[in-house]
Amino acid sequence: MATGLDDVVAAETALSDVDGLAGRLIIRGHSLDELASSTSAEEILGMLFANAFDQGPTPALLGAARVTVFKRFEHHLKSLADTPVFDAVRACVALLPDDDALETALLLVAAPAVLVPALLRQRDGRPAIAPDPTLGHAADILRMLRGQAAAPAETAGLDTYLVTVADHGLNASTFAARVVASTQAGLTSAVLAAYGALKGPLHGGAPGPVLDMIDAVGTPQSAEAVLGAMLARGERLMGFGHRIYRVRDPRADALKGALAKLPPSPRMDLALAVEAAALRLLKQKKPDRPLETNVEFFTALLLDSLGFPRDAFTAVFAMGRTGGWIAHAREQAISGRLIRPKSVYVGPRPREAA
Ligand code: SDX
Repeated sequence: MATGLDDVVAAETALSDVDGLAGRLIIRGHSLDELASSTSAEEILGMLFANAFDQGPTPALLGAARVTVFKRFEHHLKSLADTPVFDAVRACVALLPDDDALETALLLVAAPAVLVPALLRQRDGRPAIAPDPTLGHAADILRMLRGQAAAPAETAGLDTYLVTVADHGLNASTFAARVVASTQAGLTSAVLAAYGALKGPLHGGAPGPVLDMIDAVGTPQSAEAVLGAMLARGERLMGFGHRIYRVRDPRADALKGALAKLPPSPRMDLALAVEAAALRLLKQKKPDRPLETNVEFFTALLLDSLGFPRDAFTAVFAMGRTGGWIAHAREQAISGRLIRPKSVYVGPRPREAA
């Protein structure tokens, strides 16, 4: 019995469509090709939040939310110094108000954007940098991370990433958010459930291990042998395969395009050799199941190029995906019913009374 809800339709949504056979992603009626290099994080948020709240998420409101998050948590950071970055962000999110207000939604979007740079700088022994509400979201994230303005191509690269991962149908973390929202719980409860699902290496936990895998290969010549040995050990090649896409994930090329506009990554030649070897080996291993490059492979290279350490990649994923989680949670709360599937009991039954 397929227990992964494969091909089960669990909701109607006007937010995004993932066409796994055509390899096409549509968000609010626009194809990813159209959005990826021409849309800002604020704009995709406005598209996703349309009709979800009484007013739209303006850049000024999002900037103000970054400032509020910083003030709310700057004195908590020390107590989180020994907590993994993703878990530390999730712990702070749990302290946010739990309701359906736009203000709460913006605090949830702002939380990873402000906390990831602050926690990473604290780990490096550097002081956290307060947000600048007058900057664009992506520009302010990179400024808070580095302590100086990023180059326009880098800001554009982060905007492309945040837009590309903003929403993707009923992936595991978004589905988790919808289940919680279907009980009429608040947005923070729904987003916290999504954080838990995102952390898993089969889902949002994949990009860090992608970089580990590329580093483990070391040279293009050893790609076949190292990846072959991983597969022989029954390991999965991170950054490949997808429950819906049976062709190349369109987001892989969107992010590869953003990388091409940045200073060349020292890993790019090696990464392309790893990708080619992985696709060859996966085709040999599963000739009847297309296992193509997914979003996480080039996510790893792009976030590494932008200066995020690999153990923060999943928290950066949350920076982009929180908007999608909230939009789906609001859609479910407004138009959905309690999500409660059935299960088949296969355990023992009481002996019939004599
Ligand atoms: C994301 O759903 C979404 O939209 C998610 C996402 C989003 O935007 O929210 O797109 C983000 O999560 C992308 C995926 C990131 N995860 C990884 O890159 C981890 C590696 N990928 C695999 O674990 C896997 O491909 C999944 C989890 C992504 C999808 O797996 P499925 O659909 O559950 O398929 P499956 O596990 O049933 O695999 C079918 C077969 C199996 O072989 P058998 O056990 O039948 O012999 O294919 C094999 C698998 O072992 N397989 C792989 C593989 N992916 C599948 N073998 C080696 N390496 C892989 N990457």
